[in-house]
Amino acid sequence: MPDAVQLKKLTVLPHGLDIMLPAGSRLTDIEYETPERVIPFGCRSGACGACVVEVIEGADALGESDDDERDFLEDLGRSEGSYRLACQCRLHGPATIRLAD
Ligand code: FES
Repeated sequence: MPDAVQLKKLTVLPHGLDIMLPAGSRLTDIEYETPERVIPFGCRSGACGACVVEVIEGADALGESDDDERDFLEDLGRSEGSYRLACQCRLHGPATIRLAD
């Protein structure tokens, strides 16, 4: 019998949407769970900047950003605070994010 898929909770502000995603999912995979595009995205490869989010809680659950992500966020003027590219984050525990302005 295969192991059960572990689900982790992602809360998206300002929607206040709580959604369960399989552990290890990219945050942009939320699109497979809802009919709406909750998190904007484009390239899904960390190159367009459409998916910038601010991590409110659970930064450790999203893993470390790599140099490319940090450099790109700096180019976007998002090097302060807890900004991440949703397409580059994998959900390993409960987290709360806010869509960037
Ligand atoms: S979708 Fe393009 S950077 Fe995330």
